[in-house]
Amino acid sequence: MIRVFYFSPTGGTWQVAQHLGDRLGALLDAEVEYHSYTLPRERETLPQVEAGDVVVWATPVYAGRIPNKTLDYVRRALRADGNPAVALVTFGNRAYDNALAELVGLMEEGGMRPVGAAAMVTRHVFSDTLGAGRPNEEDLAELDRFAAQVAEKLSTINSQLSIIDVPGEAHPERYYTPLKTNNAPAGFLKAKPSCNSGLCTRCGECQEICPMGSIGEQDGLPAFDGICIKCQACRRHCPTGAIAFTDPEYLSHVAMIERTFAAPNQAEFFVAETIK
Ligand SMILES: Cc1cc2nc3c(=O)[nH]c(=O)nc-3n(C[C@H](O)[C@H](O)[C@H](O)COP(=O)(O)O)c2cc1C
Ligand code: SF4
Ligand code: SF4
Repeated sequence: MIRVFYFSPTGGTWQVAQHLGDRLGALLDAEVEYHSYTLPRERETLPQVEAGDVVVWATPVYAGRIPNKTLDYVRRALRADGNPAVALVTFGNRAYDNALAELVGLMEEGGMRPVGAAAMVTRHVFSDTLGAGRPNEEDLAELDRFAAQVAEKLSTINSQLSIIDVPGEAHPERYYTPLKTNNAPAGFLKAKPSCNSGLCTRCGECQEICPMGSIGEQDGLPAFDGICIKCQACRRHCPTGAIAFTDPEYLSHVAMIERTFAAPNQAEFFVAETIK
């Protein structure tokens, strides 16, 4: 069984994780099960990894690392007994910094054997231009080649494999500091979305899909009262475009990354070496 675990507030990570899972399933002639840990209720019912399972763990990159508010959960959930595993991170064309090293490190600490690791460019949820159209055909063809290499390694899994050498630190001390257009740090940690009551149809969709369970209700309208990780799920899912982030520090950061990181970045892939 291939078990694909993924966190994907706006669907980019899910798209890539599903492509990789389906491909590995076909190559290994194995059943594939997908387990989202995006929503609070999903995090209560995640299955245990069993003997013989291959694990794919997929997460978006937030501020150069695994999203801060999911980190404790990932640390607890990534437990196995020598199962082979594939680490997958998605990033919005800026950089994945320490995220892949952090995920591979947590896999090793949780008793998994990382066989492959990949960083894929996806749309940056803050922007309509950054990473737009990614993954494209070329990215997916590269992901297919990676899946073939991983499948080949898995067929010789009893051989000794090297530690995968991915860039970055497994135990970074800090997160990437978002900057504004004037290069000063952008302080939008406390920013929250707002709702235009004239556009809101009170459908309740945003309340359902918030990964932090942070959207309540007041007089039929969404109330953003809990922790906000800026994942953009509410804004992107709202059918009428009623939700916006208007915080000036946030908007200045978005303008900065759109200007600085417009050139297409590349996906990167790493596969363990067979030692003997
Ligand atoms: C809070 C936050 C921080 C992010 N930080 C980075 C980053 O450091 N580097 C980068 O390239 N993309 C960054 N992104 C973009 C996401 O990694 C990218 O859009 C990802 O595909 C989102 O995954 P999803 O579509 O599964 O929600 C960030 C997105 C959010 C919401
Ligand atoms: S998803 Fe949009 S329209 Fe529906 S309740 Fe939320 S803000 Fe209103
Ligand atoms: S309120 Fe914040 S955490 Fe919740 S869906 Fe919206 S952006 Fe994400």
